[in-house]
Amino acid sequence: MWESLDNLPDVSCEHVDNQPDALKADTLRLKSNDEPTMSFDCRLAKRTRSFEQVTRSVAVICGMLLSTIGCRKEVREPITQKFDAAQTLRGAAEKHHLLMGAAVDSPYLNDARYRATVIQEYSALETANELKFDAVHPKPESYDFSGADALVAFARTNSMKLRAHNLLWHRSLPNWIAVNDWMHAQNGPSTPWTPETLNKVLAEHIATVVRRYRGEVYAWDVVNEPFNEDGSMRSSIWYEKPGIGFAGEGTKYIAQALIWAHAADPEARLFVNEYNAETLNKKSDAMYEMARDFLRQGVPLNGIGMQMHVESDFNSFEDLSKNIQRLGRLGLEVQFTEVDVRLRDDSDVSLRAQADIYERLLNVCLRESACTLFQTWGITDRYSFIPETFRGYGWALPFDENYKKKPAYNAMLKQLQLQSKVAEH
Ligand code: XIL
Repeated sequence: MWESLDNLPDVSCEHVDNQPDALKADTLRLKSNDEPTMSFDCRLAKRTRSFEQVTRSVAVICGMLLSTIGCRKEVREPITQKFDAAQTLRGAAEKHHLLMGAAVDSPYLNDARYRATVIQEYSALETANELKFDAVHPKPESYDFSGADALVAFARTNSMKLRAHNLLWHRSLPNWIAVNDWMHAQNGPSTPWTPETLNKVLAEHIATVVRRYRGEVYAWDVVNEPFNEDGSMRSSIWYEKPGIGFAGEGTKYIAQALIWAHAADPEARLFVNEYNAETLNKKSDAMYEMARDFLRQGVPLNGIGMQMHVESDFNSFEDLSKNIQRLGRLGLEVQFTEVDVRLRDDSDVSLRAQADIYERLLNVCLRESACTLFQTWGITDRYSFIPETFRGYGWALPFDENYKKKPAYNAMLKQLQLQSKVAEH
C-alpha cells in the first residue's frame, strides 16, 4: 500500500517512533545514524546530519513529554493509507505510458515526508549520487553498493523502475583514479596511468557494477557529459588524459564503454546523458552524429538523456521537439533525466513562470513519442544541488522546502489529467 503524504503525523513528532514502523514496511536497508555515510556529497552529509540531530532532539523531547501529552501514542499511528492515484503525478502519467521519475539518494528516505512523497508521486527513480564512481568504487579493490542496494530494494517494494547514473564521467572520481591528474595512487605517485592500465580498470568497473544490477536497473547513463559546448570532445582522464586507448579518436571511447555495459547486461537500455544538448546547437549536433554513427556500426546505444537544467526564460520548445524527433527517427529513446527550473526568487510571478516551463516541457515529452521519461533532479527544494552550483538561484523543484506542492506541480498534474491524447510509446 502506498503511504499517503497527507496523512503523515504532525511535524513535531514525525521522525520519532513511527520511523522504524514505516521502514518495516519494506526491505529497505537504511544506514545507521552514526555511520559516515555521505562521502559522495558533503551537502547531503551536512543536511542529513542536521536532520539526524533534529531527529534525536525531538526524540528526547517526545520521550520526556510522552507520559503527559501522549506523544508516543500519536506518532505510532500508521502513516499508510490509500489515496487517489489519479491525483498524483505517477497515477495521472500512467495513461500516457509516461514514467514520472526522480533522482534520489537513499539517506533522504529517512525523512518520512520525502519518502512518502516519492512513493506517492513517482513511478521511476534514478540513483542520483550513489553509483557515481567515487561512491561505488572508493578504493581500487573495494566497492560500496550499500546506497544503490537500498534504492533497488525500495524501488522494487514500491513497483518503481530504477535508472542508474553513471558509469563514466569526468567528475566524481575517487582519489585513487584522479589524484595528481592521472597518477596511479595505488602504485605510488610516480606511476602514471597508461591507456592499458586505465582500460583495464574501467572495463572491470563497468562489468562489476552493471552485472550486479542486472535485471534490477532498466537503464544506465553509461557516459555522462562527454561533449564541449562547441561539439568537440571534452578533455578527461577517460578520453585522452591518458584515456582508455582511444585518445584523439572522437567518440570511440564512448562506444567501448557501451559495448562493455551491454556485455554485462544485454537487457539494460543504454544512454549517453548530456546538458545543453536539448535543443538544436553544436553540442546536440555532435550528439546526433555520434548516435547515427553508433547505430550504423551496431554499437549498443538505446537512447539519449537530456538533463534539462533550465531557467524560467527557456523558450526553445520547438527546437527541443525537433531534436527529439531527429533522435527518434534514428530509433532512439529520449529521456528527460534531470529536469529542474531554477529561479532567482520564490515570488508568485517567478513560481508561475516556472510552472509554465514545467508544463510546456512536460507537454513536449507527452507529444513526442520518443520521449519515455520525465524525471526531475530531486523532488524538493529542501535538497537540491542548484543553490550550490548556480549561485543566486534556487527554488527549482516541484515541491518546496516543506514538501508543499508548488504551482509547477499543480500545472503538471493538470496537464497529465487534461491531455486526452495518449502518446503511443
Ligand atoms: C550533482 C549532485 O546533485 C550533487 O549532489 C553532487 O555534489 C554533484 O553532482 N548533472 C549530473 C549530475 O549529471 O550527476 C549532477 O549531480 C548534477 C548535474
